[in-house]
Amino acid sequence: MEVIIRPDSDAAASLLVALIEQVVRQKPNATLGFATGHTMEMVYSKLAAKHANEGLDFSGCSTFNLDEYIGMSGKDPSSYRHYMNERLFSKIEIDLANTFLPNGVAEDIDAECERYERLIEERGGIDLQLLGIGSTGHIGFNEPLSALRSRTRAKALAPETREQNASMFGNDVDRVPKRAITMGVGTILDSRRCILLATGAAKAEIIASAVEGPVTSMISASALQLHTRCTVIVDEEAASALQNQDYYRWIFENEPEWQEFQ
Ligand code: GLP
Repeated sequence: MEVIIRPDSDAAASLLVALIEQVVRQKPNATLGFATGHTMEMVYSKLAAKHANEGLDFSGCSTFNLDEYIGMSGKDPSSYRHYMNERLFSKIEIDLANTFLPNGVAEDIDAECERYERLIEERGGIDLQLLGIGSTGHIGFNEPLSALRSRTRAKALAPETREQNASMFGNDVDRVPKRAITMGVGTILDSRRCILLATGAAKAEIIASAVEGPVTSMISASALQLHTRCTVIVDEEAASALQNQDYYRWIFENEPEWQEFQ
């Protein structure tokens, strides 16, 4: 794992966008793993701008999102399908047939989860998986006690998560679904590269636990310590509870890979 601290959320999102651009330019048919949440909004608007102004071409890419609420069709404005279509897919000229999210209204949810796993495999696995982190430490919707080897499945949402996500439901926590389909921790760890983005002071404590604490199923993001190629990008605020900030900064300044991003 490596940790990169950027001055603010704009610079943190810009670095992530630069990494995505590098992957897509090197491999025009890349399979990208996308995440939702407020943190990613800036990333998607910057990606849309890259497409519009610099011709970054996503037409050969396939995309897989981490999760979708159960019981919510893609037409619902609070669904993650709607979020992705509005914020990104409609702006980057990608064929929607190559963009995948779990189907939250599938009749047989278990079969849908298996289908999703198979689809990821058929598209050659995920080259770059974007991740946010929830206040419970979840990646995707892998709530505390999610098995570290779990695969795509239905998961009940923690009360804290429903409260955190209520802003996407008109601040009405009762409207937030109680369950979701999510890629498992094991599914996420199978991605060739993982990048977690966290910004703002509210994420400081959970980032410190996930990065510097023990690997535990109570904080599924801590499982990223097991990944061979994981980068955590944080702004100063989200970095503020990390013990070893000087070390992370030193590595960033001295690793050749990061020279072109400084
Ligand atoms: C939801 C998503 C997570 C995401 C989290 C962070 O819960 N399922 O994948 O990491 O939101 O949300 P935000 O960026 O709004 O803090």
